Amino acid sequence: MKGSAAVTADRLIDEIMGYRKAKVLMVASYLGFFDRLEPPRSAREVARLLRLDARAVEILLDALVAMGYAFKRGGRYGNAPVSRRHLVSGRPGYLGDNLKYQEIIWDAWGELRHCVKKGGAVRPLEYWLLRHKGFTQEYIRGMDNIARGPAAEIAAALDPTSVRDMLDVGAGPGTYSLAFLSGNSSLRATLLDLPSTLKITRNMLAAHPGPRARATLKPGDYRRADFGRAAYDLVLLSHITHDESPAVNESLLRRSRRALRPGGRVVIHDFMLEPDRVSPTFGALFSVHMLAYTEAGRTYTAREYQSWLRRAGFRSIVRRPIAASARNSSQILVATNPG
Ligand SMILES: C[S@@+](CC[C@H](N)C(=O)[O-])C[C@H]1O[C@@H](n2cnc3c(N)ncnc32)[C@H](O)[C@@H]1O
Repeated sequence: MKGSAAVTADRLIDEIMGYRKAKVLMVASYLGFFDRLEPPRSAREVARLLRLDARAVEILLDALVAMGYAFKRGGRYGNAPVSRRHLVSGRPGYLGDNLKYQEIIWDAWGELRHCVKKGGAVRPLEYWLLRHKGFTQEYIRGMDNIARGPAAEIAAALDPTSVRDMLDVGAGPGTYSLAFLSGNSSLRATLLDLPSTLKITRNMLAAHPGPRARATLKPGDYRRADFGRAAYDLVLLSHITHDESPAVNESLLRRSRRALRPGGRVVIHDFMLEPDRVSPTFGALFSVHMLAYTEAGRTYTAREYQSWLRRAGFRSIVRRPIAASARNSSQILVATNPG
């Protein structure tokens, strides 16, 4: 039974200290420390380049060294290999946009006590993003960093050559559509998202002229939009259902079914919990993340999705893990519209 494993006092202290480590990493990334440690520099030089306080920069840099993300030699600080790979902007494995997003969303977590009382976010994600001018762009780009692997895996599993037309609901950077468009040169994709997001999607897709020519960007609100009738072979709902209530998710599935041709498939891609809701740990904590900045979102169980799919009239539901060995592994549920 999960929860009964003995947690030691040392682990308890480590976990409480965890927020300090997380905050040091997020703030250092947000302020651009790691870019400035290539080549190694003194705390005073880093502070001058970033227009920060030298004493405070030294305190943070020493903490980064203590945590293993930087080294200190002869009064100069440099990046540890993990930081060089993942925290210096422009590197292929760059995760800094995601850390910056976490730093911003930290403010939402700061209101968690009130969210627990209220039953949902005190202020929504858009509020936090708007407070940091220009961040929507980094937020959407950050999604692309983490979506490439799962997108390739999902496209390979579903065989893009079996799809003529697809609808990508809440498409974000368009990474998933792009994986399908790249796998079938006659496939057409419609990407539905909010106008503010699609501005960024448009710029990102411009780097892929072939697939871009077969992509239609459709501004709209997925909570209300009519998805059309018998127009697609595939409707993708990737990482949007955790933001929404069960009622909105059922409505998304009903409209998806109407939009599908007979034999067409809907794909739900998300973090999913086991029926006990306490595993995997990532999913249980992601639910708290949703509590902090959505009105009614949470992590759902595969069983909940399956029952909504059946109620919407879908059949032949198949479940499959994505990025199975990753700490943040997700799942897809693929269901068919019987017509
Ligand atoms: C977590 S992202 C997922 C993006 C992409 N599907 C993926 O898996 O990488 C959620 C997306 O839903 C979009 N979104 C949020 N609310 C929306 C709404 N009411 N109508 C349309 N899109 C919305 C956001 O702009 C964002 O691009």
